[in-house]
Amino acid sequence: MKKPILVTGGAGYIGSQNCKELAKKGFHPITFDNLSTGNKSFIKWGPFFEGDLKDGDRLNWVLKKTKPTAVMHFAANALVPESMQNPKKYYENNVIGTLNLLNAMLENNIRYLIFSSSCATYGHPKFSPMCENHPQDPISPYGKSKYMIEQILKDYKKAYNLKYVTLRYFNAAGADLDTEIGEHRDQESHLIPLAIDTALGINSNLNVYGSDYDTKDGTAIRDYIHVQDLALAHTRSLNYLFDQNHSLELNLGSEEGFSVLEIINAIERITNTKISLKFLPRREGDPEMLFATSKKAKKHLNWDAKFSDLKTILTSAIKWHKKKKVL
Ligand SMILES: NC(=O)c1ccc[n+]([C@@H]2O[C@H](COP(=O)([O-])OP(=O)(O)OC[C@H]3O[C@@H](n4cnc5c(N)ncnc54)[C@H](O)[C@@H]3O)[C@@H](O)[C@H]2O)c1
Repeated sequence: MKKPILVTGGAGYIGSQNCKELAKKGFHPITFDNLSTGNKSFIKWGPFFEGDLKDGDRLNWVLKKTKPTAVMHFAANALVPESMQNPKKYYENNVIGTLNLLNAMLENNIRYLIFSSSCATYGHPKFSPMCENHPQDPISPYGKSKYMIEQILKDYKKAYNLKYVTLRYFNAAGADLDTEIGEHRDQESHLIPLAIDTALGINSNLNVYGSDYDTKDGTAIRDYIHVQDLALAHTRSLNYLFDQNHSLELNLGSEEGFSVLEIINAIERITNTKISLKFLPRREGDPEMLFATSKKAKKHLNWDAKFSDLKTILTSAIKWHKKKKVL
């Protein structure tokens, strides 16, 4: 029998790619999502239960009915600038929502969790590349909400024997290589989708926040990891939990840093267009440089980023955005 896995946020960008990968690897993905930022049309690989993490009774009911072997927890609000304006939304949805999920898991005797954390838990870089032992000093309510959940998981591990793999993603990017699913939000704030939409003429110009950082061209540096590489790391993490019954915290990044202008120039080259830029001051909550070492994930999961070269990331994303434009 296929192992049922509950996927919170399975209608979202990263969650839906994980449902596809889970199905491919012989698991039975069950999506739990409130569709606040997700897309119903992305739920193609298993059943869907509409519900909100803030509704503990609904969570309990779904867990009792579906009896998952493990939970992959993607559901969250995930926009740094929005979290600076509206921290209440982030602490309620991310922290309280996750507490409800953990408590429903305990009640139903489900002990395995894969948790989507973030490089935003590190804050300003003290050294680069960042390893898992880099001090965690988050500078946005979003990063703090993820950091708080990481602390809660450690306590739940000790007290209730919960086993988890916490995956600290750097910047998720790219689209499904079959162009079935990809990044699609009503309120987009990520660089690559915004730059592509500008190149495709959907937006008239692109805002660049901060051109006075202490980096090679003054713009912020990020590490982009292909969403299919993330999905592969999740199924490996699941098998790690089943085989080793042991908890871990891991970075997932490509180990390469690209500046905002390097990304824009690469999209201009591939699409043969000129992107009109508007330079604005730095945004609060944005560190100047975030890039990872993923050595620990490579070692424990026998995982490597296979699709995270800039060309594959950008060409897959551009293909998806062109398809989305005519949908
Ligand atoms: N995108 C990135 O670069 C990135 C980087 C680091 C970490 N993450 C984390 O990965 C996870 C997925 O991110 P994403 O980019 O796919 O975001 P997304 O917005 O596309 O997906 C989030 C999904 O969760 C659902 N959701 C949100 N709140 C919910 C609630 N209370 N109850 C039920 N469903 C709810 C949304 O409807 C959506 O389908 C998030 O936890 C995010 O913090 C993302």
